[in-house]
Amino acid sequence: MSDTNLASRGNWSSRMAFILAAAGSAVGLGNIWKFPYMTGENGGGAFVLIYLACIAIIGIPIMMAEVFVGRNGRRNPVASMRLVAERNLSNPAWRISAIIGVLAAFIILSFYSVIGGWSASYVMHSAVGDFAGQDAEAVGAIFGDLLASPGILLFWHTVFMGLIIFVVSRGLKSGLERAAKTLMPALFILLLLVVAYATTTGHFGQALDFLFTPDFSKVTWDTALQALGQAFFTMSLGMAIMMAYGSYLGKDISIGRAAVGVGIMDTLVALLAGLAIFPFVFANGLEAGQGPGLIFVTLPLAFGQMPLGVVFATAFFILLLFAAWTSGISLLEPVTEWVEEKFAMSRTGAAILSGVACWLLGIASILSLNIWSDVYLLGMFDRFAETGILDLLDFVTANIMLPLSGLLTALFVGWCVAKESLQDDMAMSDGLFNLWRNLLRYVTPIAVLAVFIYNLM
Ligand code: PFF
Ligand code: NA
Repeated sequence: MSDTNLASRGNWSSRMAFILAAAGSAVGLGNIWKFPYMTGENGGGAFVLIYLACIAIIGIPIMMAEVFVGRNGRRNPVASMRLVAERNLSNPAWRISAIIGVLAAFIILSFYSVIGGWSASYVMHSAVGDFAGQDAEAVGAIFGDLLASPGILLFWHTVFMGLIIFVVSRGLKSGLERAAKTLMPALFILLLLVVAYATTTGHFGQALDFLFTPDFSKVTWDTALQALGQAFFTMSLGMAIMMAYGSYLGKDISIGRAAVGVGIMDTLVALLAGLAIFPFVFANGLEAGQGPGLIFVTLPLAFGQMPLGVVFATAFFILLLFAAWTSGISLLEPVTEWVEEKFAMSRTGAAILSGVACWLLGIASILSLNIWSDVYLLGMFDRFAETGILDLLDFVTANIMLPLSGLLTALFVGWCVAKESLQDDMAMSDGLFNLWRNLLRYVTPIAVLAVFIYNLM
């Protein structure tokens, strides 16, 4: 770690700037694409309830722990973990949690970029009016054709990754701040408009019911694992990202309030996305549990039937693309920082190297949608008998690596960081501080371990 790098570390310009940048990382495909389809696959309300509990008692506390490590260390995530461990006379091996995180960020970005590419291609389709007046079958066919064409997928994957490398290589703190400040509110307003329109489908009540009436007969340990994994994924936890962002956070800012702010925004966007999508799913007799294609089929269908649909659809997919873009940037950031410092490379060189490596790995995910659609790397295990490469990478990162990294961070901050210094940094009331610390010490580890163990058995 060079001291020049340390000295050049600026700060976010305000608490709001940090919250928006962190929210820019958090709010992405996970909210608008993944949350609705996972809810659909897992039967609705009960999944939503478990997910909300995971956000409140696991997600937000871990986000605070990660931001704490970043701000206390003020270095790249791996170096910060090591430094904070040394300061607290703990084993520097705790930095394994940040290493798992950086690796997970790398793997996630490889397939995240492929899906980001879908969004980019949908901007085009919407803008030229391909969805106007189409029925479910025609819209489904557009999506099917996209997935079946490796060349087209590769093209959009390349565009998306290029956009990310471009921004990260410029080191863009102000760019990221500024983008998040305008794009987040715009996305929010557009979602509200689509929800308003969804209330006119006559199936809004059914969607409310689906999302908010829990049916616990559908809950299994697998549901819990998925809800937990989604809580990590959606809040960008277990990937060293919040550590990286926290390293730029001023001492005067309350980490607790910032984390709660991000958690609330992220959750609102996910729930709004659900309310925007399910009324159309039910109104058109579509399958709620259809999986990853959900928003790429239902929303275009709805837009295709509404007045000014071309404008709405184009705007929506542009915003989805931007949401994915800010998240993608945040994924490449820790990898780039690490490569830069580890191999003493220039920022641009490190961003290009990491981005291109990610892009190459992404090709495996692209092929798994068509030419390699029957390649099941872990096919020898029942559970993965029909899991293709993209789904496998998603599963391994969201359900194993992120919770594991988060678990280690929680244990480290909860048990190894001296209480006084921790309380000093967090500047919370005694009651809230103790609640938070106990969540990290007991509740988070037990919950994550329980879900892990049940799934291994
Ligand atoms: N939180 C983002 C989302 O919900 O789309 C996805 C994501 C971004 C995951 C950044 C991980 C990450 F590091
Ligand atoms: Na999210």
